[in-house]
Amino acid sequence: MFIQTPFATVNDRHELCVDGVSVMDLSNKYGTPLYIMSEGHIRSQFALLKDKFIDRYPNVLPLYASKAFSCLAIYKIAQEYGVGIDCVSAGELSIALKAGMDPTKIYFHGNNKLPSEIEYALSRGVNHFVVDNFYEIKIANEIAERLGTKVYATVRVVPGVKSGGHAYIQTGAKDTKFGFSSHDGTYLKAIEQILKAPGMEFEGIHCHIGSQIFELEAYTTAMTHFVGFAKEIKDTLGVEIKKLNAGGGYGIAYTHEDHPLDFEVITSAIMKTIQEGFAKNNMRMPMVLIEPGRFVVGNAGITLYTVGSYKDIPGVRKYVSVDGGMTDNIRSALYDAKYEAVVANKADLAADTLVTVAGKNCESGDILIKDIMLQDPQPGDLLAMFSTGAYHYTMSSNYNQLPKPAIVFTYQGKDRLVVRRQTFDDLIAYDVEE
Ligand SMILES: Cc1ncc(COP(=O)(O)O)c(C=O)c1O
Repeated sequence: MFIQTPFATVNDRHELCVDGVSVMDLSNKYGTPLYIMSEGHIRSQFALLKDKFIDRYPNVLPLYASKAFSCLAIYKIAQEYGVGIDCVSAGELSIALKAGMDPTKIYFHGNNKLPSEIEYALSRGVNHFVVDNFYEIKIANEIAERLGTKVYATVRVVPGVKSGGHAYIQTGAKDTKFGFSSHDGTYLKAIEQILKAPGMEFEGIHCHIGSQIFELEAYTTAMTHFVGFAKEIKDTLGVEIKKLNAGGGYGIAYTHEDHPLDFEVITSAIMKTIQEGFAKNNMRMPMVLIEPGRFVVGNAGITLYTVGSYKDIPGVRKYVSVDGGMTDNIRSALYDAKYEAVVANKADLAADTLVTVAGKNCESGDILIKDIMLQDPQPGDLLAMFSTGAYHYTMSSNYNQLPKPAIVFTYQGKDRLVVRRQTFDDLIAYDVEE
């Protein structure tokens, strides 16, 4: 069984357990499909951010990129570890604030922050913005002035580094919708405008080169570029940066073919490149921020399904269908993402049957796993799909009017419901009847 969390075990009834809780029991209690999140795993990842980053270096702040998984419970846990938050919409901000997050530890990202979102953020004390484009400089400055407050701006600069998994999640190359280009000096013009804007204060530069990154060199190359940008800013505009946000994108293992880098290896390389670069150029060391999302929650997630119908096309393939699909996991269809799974009630038995796991949505592309050896899945068995903690719940939909699954956290032998399952009434909650 390939599973990337030490919090998963198998009991003597062959049942998969998470944090000591049998997934059979969870299925009986909450039904399927079900998002199970190992709180033990989430806490151990946040503890890494604290122990190996916050406590190791002076003047640093890890932000949890909450687009990966956002609900009240996760923001509450993040606070316990002194971690800040990366939000990309007023919706995410609203949940983080409702969970009691300190607004000064929230950084507002996004390539098209709406005037209403900017006003929402600023009027609630969320003043740290990762500024993405010239239009944003204009409207953020106007709104900040009108409200008598300031935007503390970190400027998103595109380093021209190509990295990351699927093309849709590569953001560091020249041709991207995000940020200010570096190859033609556009970012310097942006900083110049911010320096002149009465409603804004320039703080530093931001970099995010993509997601699912497995090469250390991508980080060191990007950071080397950023040291160069800091020097260019100093030389041409006469200001030293106070903050350098090195972004997220730390790859995790979805299958046995993925070999992620160790957190300390990544952060040491990032810090060393920045420290040496700034010292060499006689610049004051800035505050360093990082913003991993998937790394914190990805391997914590297990989606539990019930196996239903099957179709055997002799000599072609055998499909087994489950009670969820692209509505709870769009990554397979969107990115052709690969996963591992196990029949959760036969978890340590031989995986001797080749099947393709299909969802129940009305699309031929609704295939969750193509060609996987499983423990002869039969109708009524439970299928556990691993590493579904990031970009699953937050990307879920109600296509075909399937209610969204519940989310259960497991921790130290106990489980707790953190998001309830949607009901049919929820599906028409926004319909207006004449
Ligand atoms: C600006 C920014 N920061 C951080 C992240 C988090 O990436 P990951 O979940 O791969 O760590 C993303 C992901 O899209 C991002 O766009």
